[in-house]
Amino acid sequence: IPLQQIIGLPDFEPAAERRLSNKAWSYYSAGATDGLTLALNKSAYNAILFRPRVMVNVDEVDTGTTFLGNAADLPIFIAPAGMAKLSHPEGEALFAKAAGKEGIIQFISTNASAKLDDIIEARAFPEQAFFMQLYVDRKREKSEALLRKIERLGRLKAVFVTVDAAAPGKREADERGRAELEVSSGISGGKIQSDAKGGGIGRSVGGFIDPKLNWNDIDWLRKHTALPIGLKGIQTVEDAKRAYDMGCEAIYLSNHGGRALDGSPPALYTLLEINKFYPEIISSGKCEIYIDGGIRRGTDVVKALCLGARGVGLGRPFMYSLTYGEEGVRHAIDIIRDEVQTTMRLLGVTRLSQLGPHLRTRGAKGKA
Ligand code: FNR
Repeated sequence: IPLQQIIGLPDFEPAAERRLSNKAWSYYSAGATDGLTLALNKSAYNAILFRPRVMVNVDEVDTGTTFLGNAADLPIFIAPAGMAKLSHPEGEALFAKAAGKEGIIQFISTNASAKLDDIIEARAFPEQAFFMQLYVDRKREKSEALLRKIERLGRLKAVFVTVDAAAPGKREADERGRAELEVSSGISGGKIQSDAKGGGIGRSVGGFIDPKLNWNDIDWLRKHTALPIGLKGIQTVEDAKRAYDMGCEAIYLSNHGGRALDGSPPALYTLLEINKFYPEIISSGKCEIYIDGGIRRGTDVVKALCLGARGVGLGRPFMYSLTYGEEGVRHAIDIIRDEVQTTMRLLGVTRLSQLGPHLRTRGAKGKA
């Protein structure tokens, strides 16, 4: 499928399925067990509808924002995902180029296949900002060394600790077929290996992740980094409140793209609960809310922003677009930029700060 024929992010999916090896496709696309959460991530957005306002001059729209003080041209970012070299030989370094040129922020996974230095070096302009995703290592001294390195590099502006991966999700598509790929992580050192359970890429490269990680470790983190801290993988309003009370600068609502606990709620539901029970988390301005999972359309992005999200992550669409190289990733960003602008115009807003709950309504099923 030629790139020019890709006009929406969902088009990248069948294209990538053809372009990737079976094993890479299974790793990228897999959800946990029966894929309930994977499917709900997408459909949850259908339950939110807009209240469009008309007769507004929307000739000029501005999609610019900031994430923890770092400028972004769009309220979207590249979610951290491991093993991008299965998609393209330059892997995450190509994301860095594309993200810089398009003015969006890239989250770098601890399981990135490219080396951290190579990703940072590939940036499009000297001041380009990145956020780091941290999987805490069972060998804490390894994480401490990584945190020191992150600060030394100077371009990483926040640390997001992934908290929804205390155990590897059971991704059956990923387990099928032996893992015989030569790719390993250039940051964590995680290797792709097969064993008696199967050939799970996610499971084998994540073997170092510390299941002992708990709330007391926020103090440990603060001791080892001066950067703003976010928790990625918050799935309940209680945990969101706890992270907020503990002074986390960001809460990242996510269920790991439906790859961790099957049956966990779409992050959108948790965002709705925050609106209902603790709206002060949104209004205080002390804690930014990020969200991901199943977001494929500019309308999804704008719905999340109406509910108080600061930024919206996309995982798989970027992995799939990377099969077309830098041009593919830039094309994906262009598509979402165009859709966000169209949605804003048709909603009657010209700046992201004008988005809010007044522009959305409950869905057809009355659930939202
Ligand atoms: C991920 N995700 C992920 N998350 C994380 O914190 N660290 C990681 O290393 C990875 N690795 C990873 C690999 C692949 C192939 C995928 C698809 C996902 C989860 C990712 O950050 C994000 O939460 C989801 O991908 C968002 O859902 P969508 O946009 O893929 O539906």
